[in-house]
Amino acid sequence: MSILLEIKNVWKQYGDAVVLEQLSKCVSAGEFVTIVGASGCGKTTFLNMLLGTESYSKGKILLDGKPLPSEPSQDRGVVFQRYSAFPHLTVLRNTMLGAELSASPFLGIVFNRRKFSAIREKAEKMLESVGLSHALNSYPHELSGGMQQRLSIAQALMKQPRMLLLDEPFGALDPGTRSDMHKLILALWKETGITIFMVTHDIEEGFYLGTRLWVFDKVRFDPHNAEAYGAQITYDIDVDQSAKRRLKKELELELEKSEQAFGASE
Ligand SMILES: Nc1ncnc2c1ncn2[C@@H]1O[C@H](COP(=O)(O)OP(=O)(O)O)[C@@H](O)[C@H]1O
Ligand SMILES: [Mg+2]
Repeated sequence: MSILLEIKNVWKQYGDAVVLEQLSKCVSAGEFVTIVGASGCGKTTFLNMLLGTESYSKGKILLDGKPLPSEPSQDRGVVFQRYSAFPHLTVLRNTMLGAELSASPFLGIVFNRRKFSAIREKAEKMLESVGLSHALNSYPHELSGGMQQRLSIAQALMKQPRMLLLDEPFGALDPGTRSDMHKLILALWKETGITIFMVTHDIEEGFYLGTRLWVFDKVRFDPHNAEAYGAQITYDIDVDQSAKRRLKKELELELEKSEQAFGASE
């Protein structure tokens, strides 16, 4: 797999307060990285640095070997816990909006009918893939929490980004809806091969969805100055591997049992 993202000794400070330090990681295209860590340890800040809405103080982040553009671009789509659709636009128009704005940056109105139809068709397809075909003409306030997040995902994927950044996207949803969203996000990930970074406060969700789980935590402390040191990535767990090892162990036990059973019957 090709390397998509290289994070090289990245630090983030707000004034004198160090929030993140010594982050160094490589991420291949198609990985699904889940991120857990205490509240306030810098997870959102980290996603914002990947998105380009937040700068970093030291180090380097490379996308395809080149410095990450310091502004949000089509490479990166984002979904926050609280969604952000325009209340006066329908689901369909909200989904079309990003593409309309890039086709016509000042007005956001696409006069070319063929271009407009193409954007509309793409938005309808995207909404179908997130299960919102029945709600094209609904307004955001008419949607349930799960449907709102489906809309956010459709909006984020409209420009076919390489990376999808999810900041506790399912945290406010009830368990049944959350499990539907898990199925959706896994299906979209498999279908598109997109690279996902997802912050969650639910470690089980992190293990279930991710191929790789990162833990953000502080390892250095100054008793006189809580802000002297930042969080680092203290664990980088290859979830696939550990799942495989667990399976292997289970299989070994099964085989052992089976052999004993066969031995006893001989
Ligand atoms: N724009 C900002 N200016 C100053 N401090 C900030 C800013 N954004 C975040 N912080 C601080 O950075 C730390 C990490 O915040 P955040 O990334 O939101 O944590 P998390 O998402 O892990 O809960 C917090 O102490 C927060 O107060
Ligand atoms: Mg946060």
